Amino acid sequence: MTFEYAPAPESASVVNIADSYGLFINGKFVPAKGGMTFPTINPANEKVLSKVAYASKDDVDKAVAAARAAYTKVWSKLSPAERGKYLFRIARILQERAREFAVLETLNNGKPIRETRDADIPLAAAHFFYHAGWADKLEHAGVGNNPKSLGVAGQIIPWNFPLLMLSWKIAPALAAGNTVVLKPAETTPLTALFFAEVCQQADLPPGVVNILTGDGATGSHIVNHPGIDKIAFTGSTEVGKLIARSVAGTKKSLTLELGGKGANIVYEDAAIDETIEGIVNGIFFNQGHVCCAGSRLLVQESVHDEVIEKLQRRMSQIRVGDPMDKNTDMGAINSSAQLAKIRELADVGGEEGATRWDNGCELPAKGFWFRPTIFTGVTQAQRIAREEIFGPVLSVLTFRTPQEAIDKANNTPFGLSAGIWSDKGSKVLWTAKNLKAGVIWANTFNKFDPASPFGGYKESGWGREGGRHGLSAYLKGGK
Ligand code: NAI
Ligand code: MG
Repeated sequence: MTFEYAPAPESASVVNIADSYGLFINGKFVPAKGGMTFPTINPANEKVLSKVAYASKDDVDKAVAAARAAYTKVWSKLSPAERGKYLFRIARILQERAREFAVLETLNNGKPIRETRDADIPLAAAHFFYHAGWADKLEHAGVGNNPKSLGVAGQIIPWNFPLLMLSWKIAPALAAGNTVVLKPAETTPLTALFFAEVCQQADLPPGVVNILTGDGATGSHIVNHPGIDKIAFTGSTEVGKLIARSVAGTKKSLTLELGGKGANIVYEDAAIDETIEGIVNGIFFNQGHVCCAGSRLLVQESVHDEVIEKLQRRMSQIRVGDPMDKNTDMGAINSSAQLAKIRELADVGGEEGATRWDNGCELPAKGFWFRPTIFTGVTQAQRIAREEIFGPVLSVLTFRTPQEAIDKANNTPFGLSAGIWSDKGSKVLWTAKNLKAGVIWANTFNKFDPASPFGGYKESGWGREGGRHGLSAYLKGGK
C-alpha cells in the first residue's frame, strides 16, 4: 500500500524581497558603478526573484577602502568584549528572523525548507554565538598571549550553503578583530544581502562588513586587491588552485576549503538499517551539493547485495519536489549549469560500464531537477569514482578486507571527509587512523558543530574552519 502526503507548503509571505538590491558598502546599499545588475532566480521554477548589483573593480576598491577605514579607526580599537556584543546581537537577530531566512534561502537555493529551517539557519546562528564567546578570549586561540588581528579579509563563498558559509567566514573574522569584504556566489546572493540588513539592525559600525554581489571576475578582483590581508575561499578545487597561484608571493594569508569525494565505508558488522539512513543522509542531503558528501560508498562484499537492496527500497521513499513543502526530502538542483555537469558525469558513468539506477520519481516540469541515483559495479579508475559530481549521485564500490577499504578510500586526489559504519570500536579507530581525511564520522554522517574544526588534505584545501583552529586563521601567527 502506498499513501500520499497532503501538501504542506511553507508560506513565502514571511519574506519581503525587493525588486532590486545594491552593493552593501560602508553600511549602506549603493548601486554598482555603471549601474550594472543581474537577475537572481528560484531554481525550482526559474522565476526571477530580484535583480542584484554587479560589482566591478571600482566597487571592490571602494569596499576595500571602507573595510580598511573601519578596521583602523573603529573595529581594531574596540575592546574585545564590545566586539563580542555585536556578534551576540547578530546571532540573536538571525534567530529572531530564522523563519524569514529559511524561506529566503529555500527560494533562492532550491534546497528543501526542512533543511534550511533545521540545519542552515540554526547552524548559522550557532556560528555567531560560538564566535561571540571567543571575542574576549583570543589569548586561548593558540597563537600566544597577545594575539593580533590580520586586517581586512576578502571572503568568497559558494552557493550550496549560502548563509551558513557566510557565517563560517564572517563570524571568526569579526571575533578576531578583522573587517571583511565578502562575495556571495552569483546564483545565491539574497541571504547575504538580508544579512547586510541584519548588520544595520545590529548597529554594526559601517564598513566592518561589506557585501559585494558579482561573479568570478568580482571574486578575482578581491583576491588580487593589494589592500587585502587575508583570503578565505570555499568553492571548486579549480578556482582554489587559481587563487593559490595569485596569492603566492604576496603577504596575504590564505585558507581554502575545496572539493571532496568522501568515502563512506560499510563493514559487514555494521547495523545495516541505521547505515542505510546514514548513506542516504551522506549523499542526498542538500541534493548532494555538499563538499563533504559521502559520494563513494565502499561496501564489504559479503553485505553488498543486502545493502543495495535496502538502499534502493529506501531511495524509493525519497520525496523530490517543491522545496517549500515541509514533506520534501530533496529539492531543486541549484542551477542549469550544475544540472548539466551532473548529467554529463552520470552519462559518463553509464558509458564506462557501471550500472545506473534511479528511483524513477516524477520530476516537476519547470526548474532544475535530478533523481536520486546510484551506480553499482563502479571501479576506481572510472570518472564517477574520481571526480566530484556535486549532485545526488552515489558511486558504489566493494572491498573484501579492511586494508583494501583503506587503500581504496585514500585513492583520491581529495581528502575532506569519510564515514565508517561498524559495530566494533577498535575497527572504527583503526580505520579512522589510516584514512587521509580531515573529518571522519563514525556510525553517523554530515554532523556539524561550530566548535569542531572542518577542512581537508590534498586537493580538498588548506587550513581549517571552525573551532579554535579555524579562529586562529584570522590571527597573526595562526594557520
Ligand atoms: P566556483 O568555485 O567557480 O565558485 C565558487 C565561488 O568562487 C563563487 O562565489 C564564484 O563567483 C567565485 N569565483 C569563481 N571564479 C573565481 C575566480 N577566478 N576568483 C575568485 N573567485 C571566483 O564553483 P562553481 O563554478 O559554482 O561550481 C563548479 C564545481 O565546483 C561544482 O560542480 C562542484 O563540483 C564544485 N564546488 C565545490 C564546492 C565546495 O564546497 N567544495 C562549492 C561550489 C562548487
Ligand atoms: Mg566556476
